[in-house]
Amino acid sequence: MSTLESTKRYHVTTFGCQMNEHDSERMRGMLESLGYDEAPSADDADLILFNTCSIRESADSRFVAHLGHAKRMKKERPGVVVGVGGCWAQSVKDEVFERFPFVDVAFGPGQINRLAEFLTSDDLSAQGYFEFEGFPAHLPTKRDRPFQAWVQIAVGCNLKCSYCIVPSTRGREASRPFEQLLDEVERLAADGVREVTLLGQNVNAYGRDLRTTDPLPEALLPFHAAAKRPTGRIAGVDDEAAAARPRPRTFAELLMAVSAVPGIERVRYTSPHPKDIREDVVAVHATVPEVCQHIHLPLQSGNTRILKRMRRTYDKQRFLDRVEMIRAQCPDIALTTDIIVGFPGETEEEFQDTLDVVERVGFDGAFTFIFSPRRGTEAAEMTDDFVPHPVKVERMERLVEAVQRHAKARTQRFVGRTLDVLIEGPSRNDPDVLRGRTSHNKVVNFTGFGEPGETVPVEITAATSQTLTGEMSLLARLGA
Ligand code: 5AD
Ligand code: SF4
Repeated sequence: MSTLESTKRYHVTTFGCQMNEHDSERMRGMLESLGYDEAPSADDADLILFNTCSIRESADSRFVAHLGHAKRMKKERPGVVVGVGGCWAQSVKDEVFERFPFVDVAFGPGQINRLAEFLTSDDLSAQGYFEFEGFPAHLPTKRDRPFQAWVQIAVGCNLKCSYCIVPSTRGREASRPFEQLLDEVERLAADGVREVTLLGQNVNAYGRDLRTTDPLPEALLPFHAAAKRPTGRIAGVDDEAAAARPRPRTFAELLMAVSAVPGIERVRYTSPHPKDIREDVVAVHATVPEVCQHIHLPLQSGNTRILKRMRRTYDKQRFLDRVEMIRAQCPDIALTTDIIVGFPGETEEEFQDTLDVVERVGFDGAFTFIFSPRRGTEAAEMTDDFVPHPVKVERMERLVEAVQRHAKARTQRFVGRTLDVLIEGPSRNDPDVLRGRTSHNKVVNFTGFGEPGETVPVEITAATSQTLTGEMSLLARLGA
């Protein structure tokens, strides 16, 4: 690859979720360790990479428009190498090369490390890498912000949500070893990271495939039946036998351990599955100050029949019960969600159930989507009773209205309070104003001073559905 060796400039465009953002950080880290520099735009790059998403049709089409631009650049500068990674690439595999003959390398989310292999090989023919090989542990990352980091705690997904393409693009679920994760968080903290976000397709399934004889933290014992003492036990003998028996790891203990790493001030995670959100995790939210006051709990639909067709394994009442359990322990916690409208066969009455859950829960925010059939998924085959597009749009409008109304009402509870805000940088609209985030994941624009990565007390003076406004509390800062 003589052209690359002399120039070595890359550009990555990322589509999709935080998992993809994190994968792109690893691509950047890996490329820089190979001697590449980041180019400010694809027009200046010799290696143009796309990290793609396939979650909805709109994600596909956005990416295809970008690829057209890469094709033109390749025509102008034939030495340019075009690479396509991520979920869309995985979902179409070698078809990438038939549809887009100018693509040089394509790879799935599990094969980022193969990009290095391709770039350092002398073989100029197009290559595709689509195996699932578990977690590529030793990739360096190049983070956007020095004080925030993503930590991938598991790969893949074992669920079978009928609308979702992810299980087919990211393979079987596998948790990363507990000790390896703690090592990584310790290294990140030593490198200046203050906030970590634990990433996985179903984070609260973490650890079921791992075994340990470490004792559970005392605080979690009441929640685990297996750890409870059997009646009629022989003191000492039975206790020792129980302690020696390997047990699964739990997500709650991972949260506690990560929070205890010196230097880590905030721990977030995304996304949990409502069926697995248990009392132990909620108790950790209630008692461990580093664990943020926010849970993103994807509802998808409020109707039991639709949930069944989605294979979500909970029903309307169970979701409402989970929310009640969370709020009983953490009354101030922010709850956000994902909702799909227009799933095949969704009737007006069934949609009303979704609205009903939105009204009853009062989410702090929600991402709302129109159902989009994805290749190879069960729901894409459900041709019975499709919801007409105008009906989907109209339902979406009603849903967004309800979501916004509650989000706006919910943010008012912060007005007048002084909240800890982790500074992220200047505000987008006014360089004299700072922008940061509360533990509830609310963006705050405020007047004050401090460096990105610092946490400062801010008195909240106003709130819209999305953002808070405030002033740094000098008194609280000096007192702190
Ligand atoms: N159509 C519409 N929305 C979808 N999502 C996942 N698959 C689809 C689909 N086929 C939404 C879900 C998920 C979020 C990341 O994207 O709400 O939680
Ligand atoms: Fe992320 Fe899903 Fe898109 Fe893959 S398909 S990038 S897992 S949102």
